[in-house]
Amino acid sequence: MNSYEKLLLENKAWASEKMEEDPQYFERLAHLQTPEFLWIGCSDSRVPANEITGTKPGEIFVHRNVANMVVNTDLNLLSVLQYAVEVLKVKHIIVCGHYGCGGVKAAMNNHNYGIINKWLRNIKDVYRFHRAEVDSIKDEDVRTNRMVELNVQEQVMNLAKTSIIQKSWKNEQLPHIHGWVYDLHDGIIKPIFEMKAGTHIDPIYEFDDL
Ligand code: CO
Repeated sequence: MNSYEKLLLENKAWASEKMEEDPQYFERLAHLQTPEFLWIGCSDSRVPANEITGTKPGEIFVHRNVANMVVNTDLNLLSVLQYAVEVLKVKHIIVCGHYGCGGVKAAMNNHNYGIINKWLRNIKDVYRFHRAEVDSIKDEDVRTNRMVELNVQEQVMNLAKTSIIQKSWKNEQLPHIHGWVYDLHDGIIKPIFEMKAGTHIDPIYEFDDL
């Protein structure tokens, strides 16, 4: 059997198990999703949003990209964000990075990786904002991991810079935004930064005609 065929087989087993537990399971989910959370995480295969948070299908709306970035020209991210905030009306957005992130590591050296350079540039900008602190850390792994935390913090702030979030904060007093970092070594998520709905940001980024 090919490896991908095993996935289809596992899927059949999973579906029949669910049906046995609850014959209405799929019918009910097919009609409605009302997730309370939007998850913006890294594409890394070791950080599956549902599994590490014990959430079920229907509970988390998920967007993943390399190094859990919130890039204000990324139509994919912005479309997910707008739908999650304006239609699903999620109460919480979680930006979840992870220690040892390959994307962050790649952004901190000077190799030319080709097309992904353009994506990593956004992480290099975070490095530049926090250069003094990051460069003062001698150990390479500790330095990378601090950058992972700072990157999550910056991405939370990037969300707050969007008109989508500012408009929702003004009209709905939601969502709250959380910056978390997952540790691959023990499976524990560490909350590191938070912005409650309505938090004021640098006035340079605040819109006054929402
Ligand atoms: Co990663």
